[in-house]
Amino acid sequence: MASLSMSDFKNHRERFFSQMSDNSLALFSAASEVTRSNDTEFNFCQNKSFYYLTGFNEPDALLVLLKRDNKTQAILFSLPKDKDQEVWHGRRVGQEKASQEYGFDQCFTLDEQNDLISQYLNGLTQVYFAFDDKLLTQKVFDLLAQVRSAVRQGVKAPSQLVDASPLINEQRLIKSANEIELMRQANYISILAHKRAMQQTQVGLFEYQIENEILHEFTRHGARHPAYATIVAGGDNANILHYTNNDDRLNNNDLLLIDAGGELSGYAADITRTFPINGKFTEPQKILYQLVLDAKSQVIAAIKPGTCFITLNAIANECLTKGLVELGILSGNIAELVEEKVCKRYFIHGLGHWLGLDVHDVGDYHMNESRQQCREFTPGMVLTIEPGLYMPLDDNTIDAKWRGIGIRIEDNIVVTQQGCENLTQDCPETIADIEALMAN
Ligand code: GLY
Ligand code: MN
Ligand code: MN
Repeated sequence: MASLSMSDFKNHRERFFSQMSDNSLALFSAASEVTRSNDTEFNFCQNKSFYYLTGFNEPDALLVLLKRDNKTQAILFSLPKDKDQEVWHGRRVGQEKASQEYGFDQCFTLDEQNDLISQYLNGLTQVYFAFDDKLLTQKVFDLLAQVRSAVRQGVKAPSQLVDASPLINEQRLIKSANEIELMRQANYISILAHKRAMQQTQVGLFEYQIENEILHEFTRHGARHPAYATIVAGGDNANILHYTNNDDRLNNNDLLLIDAGGELSGYAADITRTFPINGKFTEPQKILYQLVLDAKSQVIAAIKPGTCFITLNAIANECLTKGLVELGILSGNIAELVEEKVCKRYFIHGLGHWLGLDVHDVGDYHMNESRQQCREFTPGMVLTIEPGLYMPLDDNTIDAKWRGIGIRIEDNIVVTQQGCENLTQDCPETIADIEALMAN
């Protein structure tokens, strides 16, 4: 399966080391298993920052990055090899293989962590860790207390705590060429899944049957899990933004909105397509669909280094507002409607978000302390663009022909030196292409 290599993860660690002050230590915690019910667990999902720095996929591990006298050491604490446990719960990497195959300088078992980390902490100035991780925060305070308790033996504990999240988040925001290639592949697989869904959709099936077609195609191509809960929303269900029940029947003359992306080696795709269940758009569906598609195309055409989400929002706002006025859904002075962002009544979510290891990936959307200034795009950023229009069945303020229509079209975009690359461009989106594919 496509994956980053040991040298990619080492590079990630080197970049983090370069942000650390000398005589400091950073701690990154793996995720733990999460109970689904009684004694069964959800599929394990690694903490994404931990994964970014290690490529290590076991629960409960701990990464220590130690920088002393400008020399760096990456140290992993993980579960010990244990035949009895492994025969029930699966193989563990163990300490020997972890240093050989993951490139850590030293590897120890979890039960060695308290003694060793307290020794590392002696004489350091700063400790970096994610302040929003309650368990890790508790662990850091316990370790510091342990170090301080030996103060009369001449031990000196660090006195400065630094939040590691903004540093690692900013690092993750700018993707390397290898990360982008993995996301290209995650998109390639997800596009195949959306095409399969279009081809398998039929009046009378249940939404979950189409969800199953999507998951089947993800898995067939190596994306073992969806990157988030798949949305398969027929007709008015598309007007519920996070609809994941997927248990309704598919009705003739309704649209089907599918928001689905596979996760490949930890990296997410996040694609939405909306298409007619019976293969042919009705006239009102065509009109609204084309308007959302035009907004998406205009926005993507403007993406290049130096643009930002505020500029893109203005383009989407203007395009959708003009279209809605032409259709008589909005009325009034276009400039005023644009100024007051009245189209948000029908376009009720954000235009897009960063994408990466997390589907709503980390990284700030603003540039300065007051958070007023929008962050300019730079090459290596990956984002989604996902305009939509939502006309609920029970909205009596709009003409009956629009009611029950919910449309979103979502692409995944890489910012490049020249402009941008659309990772989703081979996923059918024009009315002609969708109808042609569904006719086969
Ligand atoms: N699938 C969640 C989103 O589009 O943001
Ligand atoms: Mn999205
Ligand atoms: Mn989505």
